[in-house]
Amino acid sequence: MTTVNTDKLSSARFAQATDAFVEIFTASVDFDQRMAIEDIEGSLAHAKMLCKIGILTETEREDIIKGLATIAKEIEQGEFKWSIQQEDVHMNIEARLTDLIGIAGKKLHTGRSRNDQVATDIRLYLRKEIKVIDSQLTRLQLGILNLAEQEADTIMPGFTHLQVAQPVTFGHHLMAWFEMLSRDKERLQDCCKRINVMPLGAAALAGTSYPIDRHMTAELLGFSRPSNNSLDSVSDRDFAIEFTAAGSLIMMHLSRFSEELVLWASAQFDFIDIPDAFCTGSSIMPQKKNPDVPELVRGKSGRVTGHLVSLLMLMKGQPLAYNKDNQEDKEPLFDTADTLINSLRAFADMVPHLTAKKDNMYNAAKQGFATATDLADYLVRKGMAFRDAHEVVGLAVRLGVESKRDLSEITLAELQQFSTAITEDVYDILKLEGSVAARKHIGGTAPDTVRKAVATARLTLNN
Ligand code: ARG
Repeated sequence: MTTVNTDKLSSARFAQATDAFVEIFTASVDFDQRMAIEDIEGSLAHAKMLCKIGILTETEREDIIKGLATIAKEIEQGEFKWSIQQEDVHMNIEARLTDLIGIAGKKLHTGRSRNDQVATDIRLYLRKEIKVIDSQLTRLQLGILNLAEQEADTIMPGFTHLQVAQPVTFGHHLMAWFEMLSRDKERLQDCCKRINVMPLGAAALAGTSYPIDRHMTAELLGFSRPSNNSLDSVSDRDFAIEFTAAGSLIMMHLSRFSEELVLWASAQFDFIDIPDAFCTGSSIMPQKKNPDVPELVRGKSGRVTGHLVSLLMLMKGQPLAYNKDNQEDKEPLFDTADTLINSLRAFADMVPHLTAKKDNMYNAAKQGFATATDLADYLVRKGMAFRDAHEVVGLAVRLGVESKRDLSEITLAELQQFSTAITEDVYDILKLEGSVAARKHIGGTAPDTVRKAVATARLTLNN
C-alpha cells in the first residue's frame, strides 16, 4: 500500500510515509525552536531582497512581513504549535506562514535552502549570545576591579606548588583574574569577526540561479559581508567550534578561580568569607556552610570542554558540503552559551560580596619564610653574587626552621654569623610590607602599582 505523506514539504518524492520513530529521531524542532526569532529575522531579510530583485511582488513581501510578525508574536506568547512532522524550526515557521498568508508563504523559500538558512540562524544566534556573555564578563571584571582597589594594601602569601612562596597583595592576586578575563573577552570578540559573515545565498550548496543580492541581505542582517564560497558556507561549523573553545577557556579560568575560593573559604586557609547567599548547608551536618557556587562552576567547566570535543568530533569526518550530522551542533552550542551566561552571572553577583580576612592572610604570609628571596636580593645589592646569597639565605632559613622563628625574628648577631654584609637595615626588607612595596615595576605587587593597574584597567573597561 502506498501512503503519500502530504504534510511534508518534501512529500512528492516519497511513496512511503516516514517511519514514526524516524520522524521523531530526525526531528530537531524540540531544540532548534530556540533560534526561531533569528530564523524570522533571516526570512524577513530574504523576502525583502527577493522583492527587490523582482521575485516577489510588494504585496507578497508585505504579506510575508505581516505573517512573520504574527508568528513571532505567537512564539513569544507561547501559543505557537510546534509540530514534529514539520521536523525543524525552519519548516514549522514556513508551514505556519503558508497557513496564514497562502501562496506568498510558499514563495519565501525561493533561492534558499534550509542549509544556508540554518547556518545563518546559528550565526545570528551566537552573535546575540556573545553580547550577553560579554556584558556578564564586564560585570565580573568590574567587581574584581573594585575589590582589588579595596584590597590593594592587603598582604597575603603568594604560592607556587601551593607552598608559601613570596608575599603578594590580595589586590594584585585579584588583578591576575582580571587579566585572564580580559584575554577571554578579546578571544570572544575576535571569534565574533568570523561569526559575522553571512552564508545566506549559498542555498543547498551550489548557490542559486536567481539574481540574488547578497550584499543587501548581509546589510539588512548586520553581517560584515557575504561569505565567499557556497560549499564552505553551508558545511563548516568552525565558527561554532571557535566559540566553544573560547567558552572552554573562560570556564577553565572560572574553574581555577573557583578552586582558590573553595580553598580560601576552608577552615584550613580561612582567608575569605563567601556570603551566605552564595553557599548552602548540609542536610546532615548542621555546622556546614558549603561554597556551592564556586564548586558548581568548577564542575560546569567540564561540560563546556566536553561540548568543544563533541563539536570537533562532529565535524572531523564530514565530506563537503552539508550533512545531517550538523544538526547535532545545536544542543552543545546552546548549553555552552547557557553555562557561560549563568556561571559568569553567579560570579559577577558573588565577587563584590567577598570579604578578605586580612589578619589571617597576613599571618599566613609570615609563615614559610616568604621574604627569603628579599634577603638574597638584599645581599646582592650589598655586592654578593646571587648564588652565594642564595646559600647564605639557605643557612638563615635552616636556623629559622630549627628555632621555629621567621627570618624577621632572627637577631642581627645571628644573621651576621652567615654574612657580615648584613646590617640593621635588613629588617626593613624582611618585613612583609617592605617586600611587597619593593616590587613596584610594571606588573608588580606593590600597593601603589596595584592601584595604578586598577586605574588603567578601568579605562579599558569603559571602552
Ligand atoms: N535541522 C537541520 C540542521 O539543524 C536543518 C538543515 C537541514 N537540511 C537538510 N537538507 N536536511 O542542520
